[in-house]
Amino acid sequence: MRTRITDLFGIQHPIIQGGMHFVGFAELAAAVSNAGGLGTITGLTQRTAGDLANEISRCRDMTDKPFAVNLTFLPTVSSPDYPGYVKAIIEGGVTVVETAGRNPVQVLPHLKDAGIKVIHKCTSVRHALKAQDIGCDAVSVDGFECGGHPGEDDIPNMILLPRAADELEIPFVSSGGQADARSLVASLAMGAEGMNMGTRFMATVEAPIHQNVKNAIVAATELDTRLIMRPLRNTERVLNNAAVERVLAVEAAKGAATAFEDIAADVAGVYPKVMMDGDVDVGAWSCGMVAGLIHDIPTCQQLIDRIMSEADAIIRERFGHMIAD
Ligand SMILES: Cc1cc2nc3c(=O)[nH]c(=O)nc-3n(C[C@H](O)[C@H](O)[C@H](O)COP(=O)(O)O)c2cc1C
Repeated sequence: MRTRITDLFGIQHPIIQGGMHFVGFAELAAAVSNAGGLGTITGLTQRTAGDLANEISRCRDMTDKPFAVNLTFLPTVSSPDYPGYVKAIIEGGVTVVETAGRNPVQVLPHLKDAGIKVIHKCTSVRHALKAQDIGCDAVSVDGFECGGHPGEDDIPNMILLPRAADELEIPFVSSGGQADARSLVASLAMGAEGMNMGTRFMATVEAPIHQNVKNAIVAATELDTRLIMRPLRNTERVLNNAAVERVLAVEAAKGAATAFEDIAADVAGVYPKVMMDGDVDVGAWSCGMVAGLIHDIPTCQQLIDRIMSEADAIIRERFGHMIAD
């Protein structure tokens, strides 16, 4: 399959693995890229710019295919060394950067000057248009279904993707709720040039996270995610657990007066414990509604091959048979 996204990034299949905190290490990024998609290292999971440089070089040792680095601009407890991360990306010869969160205008000129393609992930048409205006090469349109931060507009992809198609000139991929060939073909039908997946790639053999996390995703249904931090206007879709119930109880009691400190124990610094130690109930961690469509733990190659061959069958056979003579 050839689309504007495969051409832009020099990849075989229009499938991207989105940056994921404490999931997007070199092992996963390389596995996705080796399977013909675009794997992504999560920049901010690396504590320093030097650590990111090492991670990029580890990934390069595992694949000769293009891979991306994610730079997220969200409210964080500490203030990351963005100039240092950008330097590591440029010096590491990375060809694609996925930006997310706030407007990436502060890093964009440096990345563009280095010939790096930038795909900005955003949750609204107005932010996608802004990304286009400031010179991003593509956008990831992240619907309300998504794991992580869906924004505050709550527009699902059945509406958001065709709206984006109507407005954008640069290519875009769907993001949020994507799991299989049906997702890919539907995304293409709505004007996207490919799809970005997060939660689906966590439940793969190569995702370097604890087996408990993968099992929790396979066990979860589409009813098992919750939205937290809405009163802080930093909404996050997470898998429900006891810690999430505690956060929701605080938010229900305090409403708009909820402060980050009120919930920090259940949301701050929990990722290493969840992803590395497998303590899936210790705090809140991102997970998409798409968990309801995830029933196995394939390799990235098996997953991507399955998506591409089933997409081919949907397009040629299912749709082919529907066309009336
Ligand atoms: C555990 C987890 C951590 C994530 N961390 C980040 C992150 O650090 N930066 C970012 O831009 N997106 C992050 N995301 C969002 C994903 O890149 C992707 O946009 C999202 O998962 C798509 O929705 P899906 O899970 O329904 O596929 C994260 C998602 C998950 C599930």
